[in-house]
Amino acid sequence: MHGTPLQSSEKKLGQLEGVFRDSDAWQSMSPETLVYQVQWHEAIPQGMEGGLFWGTTTIAPGRVGDEYFMTRGHFHSRRDRGEYYCTVQGRGMLLLMDEERVTRAEVMEPGSLHYIPGYIAHRTVNTGETPLVFWACWPSDAGHDYETIAKQGFSARVLDRDGSPAVVPEER
Ligand code: PA5
Ligand code: NI
Repeated sequence: MHGTPLQSSEKKLGQLEGVFRDSDAWQSMSPETLVYQVQWHEAIPQGMEGGLFWGTTTIAPGRVGDEYFMTRGHFHSRRDRGEYYCTVQGRGMLLLMDEERVTRAEVMEPGSLHYIPGYIAHRTVNTGETPLVFWACWPSDAGHDYETIAKQGFSARVLDRDGSPAVVPEER
């Protein structure tokens, strides 16, 4: 993106402790490995009602053990706030989990548009061999609740099974 002042953040493997299932595999990899970056435009201050933010996420291809690189995932702090995602490049899965911990997945491919209703946690997974790039548009007062997912995780993971992605229920 260009043309407007942008914010950006990146997440390296070292910042994603506890996110991936296979902690031995995670530990054996360089903490400097870039997993994903986000660039976004905040037209108004965060938390102010009535506006929209626009962001681009790029997830690198890769795996920790048999689990594909993915975002941390979150509920919105204001649970009723929704969001749109639209895939630009690459191939992936969008995991959507409700407050009862029921998880479903949508395939992401160039042009796929995904509506994320309120009260739904969302995480994106790069299941391809090239970067997964998608746009997101969300309300300026949505906020991000990462804590709930850090504590409880999603109830399913996307794992490589003989070269293809499979949505596998999490063992607890
Ligand atoms: O607003 C969103 O849902 C996205 O822009 C995400 O913040 C982005 O994809 C990064 O994921 P996470 O915020 O879960 O680290
Ligand atoms: Ni969101």
